[in-house]
Amino acid sequence: MTGTSRQMKLGAFLWATGHHIAAWRHPQAHVTAGVDIDHYAQLARTAEAAKFDMIFCEDAAGVREANVNIASQTSRSIGFEPISLLAALAVQTSRIGLVSTASTSYNEPYGLARTFLSLDHLSGGRAGWNLVTSASPIEAANFGSTGLRPHADRYERAREFAAVVAGLWRGVDNGDLNHDGQSFSVRDALDLPRSPQGAPAMVQAGASEDGKDLAARTADVVFTAAQTFEEAKAFYDDLKGRLATYGREPDDIKIMPGVAPVVAVTESEAREKLSPTTSASRCSPAISASPICGATPSTGHCLTCRPAKACRAGKRSSSSSHAGTTSRSGSLRATSPARAATGGSSVRRRRSPTNSRHGSRAARPTAST
Ligand SMILES: Cc1cc2nc3c(=O)[nH]c(=O)nc-3n(C[C@H](O)[C@H](O)[C@H](O)COP(=O)(O)O)c2cc1C
Repeated sequence: MTGTSRQMKLGAFLWATGHHIAAWRHPQAHVTAGVDIDHYAQLARTAEAAKFDMIFCEDAAGVREANVNIASQTSRSIGFEPISLLAALAVQTSRIGLVSTASTSYNEPYGLARTFLSLDHLSGGRAGWNLVTSASPIEAANFGSTGLRPHADRYERAREFAAVVAGLWRGVDNGDLNHDGQSFSVRDALDLPRSPQGAPAMVQAGASEDGKDLAARTADVVFTAAQTFEEAKAFYDDLKGRLATYGREPDDIKIMPGVAPVVAVTESEAREKLSPTTSASRCSPAISASPICGATPSTGHCLTCRPAKACRAGKRSSSSSHAGTTSRSGSLRATSPARAATGGSSVRRRRSPTNSRHGSRAARPTAST
């Protein structure tokens, strides 16, 4: 970074049991953390105390994996609806940004604009929306019988959706919005005052041409899962180069690549922590990467096929056995930090040198530029 006033932004991608697909099998993992509000509250407060700018919740409206055998082996199959979760966390925190995913394919703009604006008021101006178009047929099957819409159709709907939401957040003077478009028809303004931060922050993570274009039009923050420096640089140049088309400046968007550090007091402790989730495991390719965000292609390992005798929780292999044992041994706080900035949002600006008061955690940090 060159400017003296610019600071890196840091966000935490909250996977309840950790970003590693097999983190829930770690002896210290809290297997049912996905439905434990106290666990999330502790994660959020820890991130806030460590001066993170935001916490982020991914989402897919359905189980993450169609194959029941595979789904039963990952703790990502259960979890709270994230906007509800963030509303609860809004009262457990006071400064950190609260970013939730929501789909333009399975919502209506009026309802979603109202929900996020409510979260913004509830939190004193800390809400952000990660706009996704949802690429999973598993989700599509829960919202009608027509199946997954083609990519171009999803983005066409998303563009109109985002424009309507922005209009609703901007507010209208005479009370009528009167939008009559291809996918949506919205008459009234929202029944809420304008946002405490101008408008909830807009986040996106699409990497396609349509995705980058929509981000260039509307996003404050863009997540990227680039795996190499060259790939990340090309993405950065491409996205920033699109902003002028929409009358925006390069600095109007912050780009947040991700990494997943394993944090411990010493390097050997970090290696020891990682080892049961990698070397002691055999990989099942079917679950080697997140089916949702594709952000973890490097996590090609799992513990799900680890021999039961290798498990420190005892020679038992069912997840319920692990749940009891690992809950007692404490939770592994496994988060995915990402650096982010939003122009008008209240995301925090400073980062502490240590990001955990509670010992070790696995994390996925990203850097904004
Ligand atoms: C860090 C990160 C988080 C993401 N979170 C979600 C999510 O919660 N839900 C979802 O459906 N997609 C998520 N995605 C996927 C993207 O939003 C996007 O849908 C995907 O890259 C496909 O879009 P594209 O065709 O424009 O590339 C995420 C991607 C990244 C890199």
